Amino acid sequence: MKLQGSITIPGDKSITHRAIILSAIAEGESNIIGWLPAEDCRQTLNAMRAMGISITEGENVLQILGRGLLGLKEPGNFIDCGNSGTTMRILAGLLAGQSFFSILTGDNSLRRRPMGRVVDPLHKMGAHIFGRGNATLAPLAIRGKGLTGIEYTMPIASAQVKSALLLAGLYASGVTGVTDPFDSRDHTERMLKYFGAPVKQKDARCSVVGGKGFQGKTIKIPGDFSSAAFFIVATLIVKDSSITIKNVGMNPTRTGLLTILKKMGATIERSGADNPLDYEPTANIKISASNLKGAGIIEGNIIPKMIDEFPILCVAAASAEGETIIRGAKELRVKESDRITTMTKALQALGVDAKELPDGIHITGSKQWTVREGMECKTQGDHRVAMAMKIAALRTEGKIGIDDERCIDTSFPAFNNLLESLQH
Ligand code: S3P
Repeated sequence: MKLQGSITIPGDKSITHRAIILSAIAEGESNIIGWLPAEDCRQTLNAMRAMGISITEGENVLQILGRGLLGLKEPGNFIDCGNSGTTMRILAGLLAGQSFFSILTGDNSLRRRPMGRVVDPLHKMGAHIFGRGNATLAPLAIRGKGLTGIEYTMPIASAQVKSALLLAGLYASGVTGVTDPFDSRDHTERMLKYFGAPVKQKDARCSVVGGKGFQGKTIKIPGDFSSAAFFIVATLIVKDSSITIKNVGMNPTRTGLLTILKKMGATIERSGADNPLDYEPTANIKISASNLKGAGIIEGNIIPKMIDEFPILCVAAASAEGETIIRGAKELRVKESDRITTMTKALQALGVDAKELPDGIHITGSKQWTVREGMECKTQGDHRVAMAMKIAALRTEGKIGIDDERCIDTSFPAFNNLLESLQH
């Protein structure tokens, strides 16, 4: 079996969330073309509907009738963010500035994830937010009110926190400035600019002026690089494979995986996208099976640029000859699962030499794995772990059992069909 063909990847998850939210608070109609119809984005979509926004789903397009900055209505029930950290954290910022009461909750995984990182700076802006564990855990109850702009330097790399503060800033008096020393993904800044919102970017600081609205737009969503990552690594590790991925997002705050894979000896060629966009970089990429070498030590400022690609990078490292050591990535412990522990155990079940580090993983890869008979990888309900293991399974003639694959729908419902379509 080898992988061959040309594909486009469904829309970017981070960008779809932002497009839905900004369209809802813009004035008038927006059309979001190529949005991602996955569970996470549907949580955001349902939340906006619950606040009185009309959203119509067409073939590949969402039509949203925005009601302006002050047009949202108090939801009649709590807002269920499901598994989506992006929905909860970004909405916390949006809701902090509304003139109504709201409650954000989520599934077992999301209710374990840290919310203090977003609540603390919002409190500094004057927000009234309450929650379990002294407002560090959901459910979060928000009594929206007038906010005051602050200057905030982020102590951790989190685009969700940065985005929450910028959205809260749209409702605050004065200027809200957020400095992000980690260069985390900048989709919110780019999209605010694209909508014509009063946003300024200079070096690591982004700022917004409160109280100024903007008009609806047509927004085309690029393919999700984080979803493409599974197909990139699959092609590299399955002998004689070669695929092309078209119109995929290439925002440099997201593509750290490519830098690492190239260092490992990957053959990946980039060319101009068939349909380029004006607010996000995109490209076509051609990937060919390659003999990978271990990446050595990966740490420092590349970590936020590959944070969601950790599970599939582990699979690439396990297939490479030599060592890969990922450090300084403690954030992985508070993702949809503790991805350091989940991935270490999953790789060990495949017979891979993987050791857990406090802030990363140490993998010694090999061409062949000795999969234990009857083994089962536990995904802990984590979509990216499940997809990484499905790709690993391509090298083991289907000997890998995976306990829960349904979670893949969180970000990539088309994953299995697309993978099958490439297998020859
Ligand atoms: C996201 C930001 C990142 C990322 C997540 C999506 C976003 O999380 O891991 O999958 O859309 O802003 P953090 O903000 O926790 O770093």
